[in-house]
Amino acid sequence: MLYSEKVLDHFSNPRNVGELADADGIGEVGNAKCGDIMKMYIKVDNGIITDVSFKTFGCGAAVATSSIATEMIKGKSIDEALQLTNQAVVEALDGLPAVKVHCSVLAEQAIKAALADYYRRQGIDPTPIVGEVHECDGCCDHEH
Ligand code: FES
Repeated sequence: MLYSEKVLDHFSNPRNVGELADADGIGEVGNAKCGDIMKMYIKVDNGIITDVSFKTFGCGAAVATSSIATEMIKGKSIDEALQLTNQAVVEALDGLPAVKVHCSVLAEQAIKAALADYYRRQGIDPTPIVGEVHECDGCCDHEH
């Protein structure tokens, strides 16, 4: 079996899909490798991520990684969410085929982009906190 049971579970029954109407931060990133797009919505209260959802034009692995990533950061502090790596997400899914690991980066980057948006909305420069995020500014429409 190419995919673990956890991947198949999160792919066929993804958690936290859709938009959050009153999101405090929205992040959109593109995957340079495949051109797929991920959008992440977060609600923040007192430094805690109280709600999170995602929408993606990505493959099954992107759906599964984002689904489990939203579960891993919901109810956690911003600091904890920023420490979530794509390796941790892949481990939580009991692994991904090597050719699909790049898909898990979308979830990690989209969370960072949403947090960057959250800080920007408050007039705070997010770069020192969140680091560099490769946000989607038409990155998928043209070649670099
Ligand atoms: Fe694009 Fe997986 S192939 S996100």
